[in-house]
Amino acid sequence: MGDGERARRVPEHVAIIMDGNGRWANQRGLPRTAGHRAGAKSVRAVVEESVRHGVGVLTLFAFSSENWRRPRGEVNVLMELFMSTLQVEVQRLVEHDVRLRIIGDLSAFSARLRTQFEKAEAATRDNRRLMLQVAANYGGRWDITQAVRAIAREVAAGRVAPDAIDEALVASRLSFPDVPDPDLFIRTGGEKRISNFLLWQSAYAELYFSDLMWPEFDAAAYGAALNDFARRQRRFGLTSEQVTASSNAVGG
Ligand code: IPE
Ligand code: IPE
Ligand code: MG
Repeated sequence: MGDGERARRVPEHVAIIMDGNGRWANQRGLPRTAGHRAGAKSVRAVVEESVRHGVGVLTLFAFSSENWRRPRGEVNVLMELFMSTLQVEVQRLVEHDVRLRIIGDLSAFSARLRTQFEKAEAATRDNRRLMLQVAANYGGRWDITQAVRAIAREVAAGRVAPDAIDEALVASRLSFPDVPDPDLFIRTGGEKRISNFLLWQSAYAELYFSDLMWPEFDAAAYGAALNDFARRQRRFGLTSEQVTASSNAVGG
């Protein structure tokens, strides 16, 4: 594969931990919640850039299963923000041909918010250019646990033999089995950890850490992450020589 070709390689699935809203606000003498509001702008930029670059799936970590432990006032603002952002942005998503899906344990949210989630998903159901997955009350361990529970039920019912449980079966019971695993996994805000995001699915994702706080992460910063990804060689356990030989054989 020549350099030109490599430069055009776009990840099929990008996953992002949108971190740093609170620190961004504190640095400016603002309440943490102002950072969450400011972060909505970055979401819009990254969604639109994903469409423009031809990314197929974008998964954003908006609220983790652990974030309930934050001060009540901050959690309430985040819930309100979900509500108002969905109301305002759905039309824009439709215009950009973006399909929305909320992933996570939604049973913890208010009925009002769940109705809003369903409405937004329904309004964008036929859109095809980008699948936007927003992870809310999501945790990688929760996802694996609910898959294990589903499989255990099938075993108990006699539909699956324990020896038939393989990686493909486990993967098929995770919360979004119909999309490919993330190719590029971005975290903003300077921390270098996964914080219980897509644990199973990110086994071979390329990790990218940005020191920018999420409200500062704009189209240019995202473009830099995509460029960085395009220059990497993904080996999936093979040697570098094997990867080069097989991409030449494919006609690169
Ligand atoms: C990420 O920003 C948003 C959520 C977790 C909801 P933070 O709120 O974690 O911001 P920092 O990490 O405290 O700066
Ligand atoms: C991860 O950020 C969750 C989201 C961005 C939604 P956190 O700020 O909650 O992660 P930790 O607590 O620093 O690991
Ligand atoms: Mg944080």
